[in-house]
Amino acid sequence: MTELERLIGAKREHFLEELKEFLRIPSISTLSERSADVQRAAEWVAAQLRAAGMAHVEIVPTAKHPVVYGEWLGAPERPTVLIYGHYDVQPAELEAGWQSDPFVPEVRDGNLYARGASDDKGQVYANIKAIQLLMETRGALPVNVKVLIEGEEEIGSPNLDGFIAAHKERLRADVVVVSDTAMQSLTQPSIVYGLRGLVYVELEVRGPERDLHSGGFGGVVHNPAQALCEIIAALHHPDGRVAVEGFYDKVRPLTAEERAIIAQTEVSEAEWRRLTGAPQPWGEAGYSLRERVGARPTLEINGLWGGFTGEGSKTVLPSKATAKISCRLVPDQDPYEIEALLRAQIAKLAPPTVRWELRALNHGYPALVPLDSAAMECAVTAYERGFGARPLFLREGGSIPVVATFTQTYGAPVLLVGYGLPDDGAHGPNEKFALECLYRGIHTSAILLEELGKRTPEALRRS
Ligand code: BES
Ligand code: MN
Ligand code: MN
Repeated sequence: MTELERLIGAKREHFLEELKEFLRIPSISTLSERSADVQRAAEWVAAQLRAAGMAHVEIVPTAKHPVVYGEWLGAPERPTVLIYGHYDVQPAELEAGWQSDPFVPEVRDGNLYARGASDDKGQVYANIKAIQLLMETRGALPVNVKVLIEGEEEIGSPNLDGFIAAHKERLRADVVVVSDTAMQSLTQPSIVYGLRGLVYVELEVRGPERDLHSGGFGGVVHNPAQALCEIIAALHHPDGRVAVEGFYDKVRPLTAEERAIIAQTEVSEAEWRRLTGAPQPWGEAGYSLRERVGARPTLEINGLWGGFTGEGSKTVLPSKATAKISCRLVPDQDPYEIEALLRAQIAKLAPPTVRWELRALNHGYPALVPLDSAAMECAVTAYERGFGARPLFLREGGSIPVVATFTQTYGAPVLLVGYGLPDDGAHGPNEKFALECLYRGIHTSAILLEELGKRTPEALRRS
């Protein structure tokens, strides 16, 4: 057993209690009434970074929620690592099916249950503790470290690109480390090398000036709710393909080589059933489940409303109906171009009997990270030692838009070294983080920094 492992073992209880503190703060970035809690979470992270020995820590306000930034630059010849994560979380209501209060963390069966446990507070915490342990055991870090923890990831990071552009030199690094994804399982770690991009829009369809009696006007006024459904239904072909003209034009085709890599992480139908509870898989013909999620673009209805939705019946012809729609994108699709294509398609589909408006809410670029970099070798070694198995490479369906920003800004490799598990329930009820993932995650993060410290900055930048 190494000194690090011994220390982590001795501090298990302490780590758990500290992480619980972090999880008790309801830092829900999308709810304005939670702004003070979001601020409190930023302060908590800043205090942790100071305790970990970072030389300079600040809370930088933005137009909405602050960015927490810390740095330790005491290894001049060594590589510089930028660690990114987010301290904000998705909303959570007890009534949505939580077995315990989402903001009163509880351990059951070796899992820590709370909103943000896995996405992303537990993983951020693991990285901070790795820094602290290295600092305590060695009196210095093996690399220069810059830590950037934002509070707006779950709302599409509206102020982060501006922050990075404004502090481009200050944030410059040879490699970027992000822990905000899941592994295959506790015994089969994986490194994410692909994330999808995103364009999120809201489509409002309006008909009559005000709600009408459906007896008096049904049959002579095109019902906006119906018109919206007609438009939405026409956005997919029967074989699951997205029916937006030009949608697939820039999609990089999958090579045989890549399909072989993806096949290694294929989900069985049984596993799919366990994770979803839905009766039968669905999706684009000609692609496996993992390919559909990781390597193909999609269009989803995220919400749909209009007319009467209360208890009982009300015979009304609603004046408007709205849908939230998002597309997950893959290289080389551009979120702004896809927004334009979607707008053009809706213009073609919308009947003259209604008016419509499409509002874009956010945009994020997809990302693909090269597998053969020196930095990636360090990540592989870290997982081998931290989790006891060679990691697989995985393309994920989720989005972390800043990953593309880091690549575009610095050309530095981004390592998506996540410690979550597929059944963590991120964004849903009963989100959890396995304690084993926490402890092994701390260990793996520490080894990763040590491994990166054995390389030269030039070697890491080359990919
Ligand atoms: N940690 C997730 C991203 C993620 C999810 C990566 C699953 C890999 C697998 C992140 O917190 C998230 O939820 N991102 C949002 C981004 C959006 C709000 C722009 C997402 O993917 O919906
Ligand atoms: Mn996340
Ligand atoms: Mn998330």
